[in-house]
Order: sequence, then structure tokens, then C-alpha cells
Amino acid sequence: MKFFIDTANLEQIKEAQDLGILDGVTTNPSLMAKEGIKGTEAINAHYKTICEIVDGDISAEVLSTTYEEMIKEGEELAKIHPNIVVKIPMIKDGVKALKYFSDRGIKTNCTLIFSAGQALLAAKAGANYVSPFLGRLDDISVDGLNLINEIRTIYDNYGYDTEILAASIRHSMHIIDCAKLGADVITSPLGPILSLLNHPLTDKGLAQFIEDSKKMA
Ligand code: E4P
Repeated sequence: MKFFIDTANLEQIKEAQDLGILDGVTTNPSLMAKEGIKGTEAINAHYKTICEIVDGDISAEVLSTTYEEMIKEGEELAKIHPNIVVKIPMIKDGVKALKYFSDRGIKTNCTLIFSAGQALLAAKAGANYVSPFLGRLDDISVDGLNLINEIRTIYDNYGYDTEILAASIRHSMHIIDCAKLGADVITSPLGPILSLLNHPLTDKGLAQFIEDSKKMA
């Protein structure tokens, strides 16, 4: 399973990259705004910096919602770096844009996926990734993991190449459950990724080994 980090914060991206387990980065307009990135020039420069830190797929989201504007914007984003993946919202014009980019070999990530039907449409339109938002479904008492499971079944039934990029991850159990269900990728904030490191028996065991190692000196 691939690990992407879901942030536009350069320090956190570097920390995950230094860990040696990072395969890519996802961003969205909210995450970019949180870092104070404003204006096309600054936005594009920020994506370029991320591409220079991480050698993997970097999702850059379009800000427009009409077919013509998404095409224009996506083509500009794709020019920033070969690793840019154009992130397109799951709307009617978005599906048309996915097909346009797919026909031209530009990688896409279809975002804001909340149902199996949306994931099926995105795969048919040739999206490279679909991003089901499991935490946001959990927030409204709908089982987000069930959606991952449904999409996995549908894609396996028909051999779709579209990768399931489980998004809106809230804690380390989400990551483990996605791995069990066969999600291709998880995109997570840094916290849940680092939480995977923790176990009290590891800490206890290491403290004992350190103590006993003094007897060997
Ligand atoms: C996906 O690519 C989104 O950036 C993200 O995972 C949304 O997560 P949130 O629900 O925590 O905002």
C-alpha cells in the first residue's frame, strides 16, 4: 500500500519524506489556504517545491468548476512538474475533464468521492486515482470503510486500473483498516502515520534492553 501525506505544510512533508516511507502528497484548496498560499504564482511555486522534496505523485487541485476552466487550469498545473496529478472534483463537468486528461496521458485524481457510483463513473472516465473521503462519511454516521470495500469489489470485478486513494483519514486504525480492505493508497495527515509507530510494549521492551545492555559493558 502506498503512503501519501495529506498536507501542504512543507515541514510535515519533509518529516514524512525523511522517514523514508513516503510515496506522494495530496493537497486541496483548504490545506493550501491554511499555509497562507495565495495567487497563481505562489500556488504553482508551492507545488514545484513539494515536487522537489518528494519524488512521487503530487495532487494539485483545480479551483474552477466548469469543463473549459478545469481543462485550462489542469493543463497549466500539469506543466509545473511531470509528477503533478490534476485533482478534479466529482461533478458532471469533472467527469468530462477526467476523460479529456486521460485521453492525453495527464494523470488525474478524482476527489470528493462519497459513493460507489461516483467511483465507478470516475474509473470509467479514466481517473488514475479516486479519493473516497472516509472520515467525512464517519462524521455523519455513515461507514466510510464500507465505501472503500464496495469500490474495491467493483474495481476488482471489472479490472479497473484506477487506484483507490483512501482520503480523509483521521487516525491510525483507518490506515490499518484500509490496508486490510486492499486500498491501493492512503493519504493521511502526519499524526496518524506517526501513530503507527507506537506500542507501549515496544517502549517497555526497549527500556529493559537498554537497562540490560549496561550489564554487558
Ligand atoms: C483528500 O485528498 C483531501 O485532501 C482530504 O483527505 C480531506 O480530508 P479532511 O476530511 O480531513 O479534510
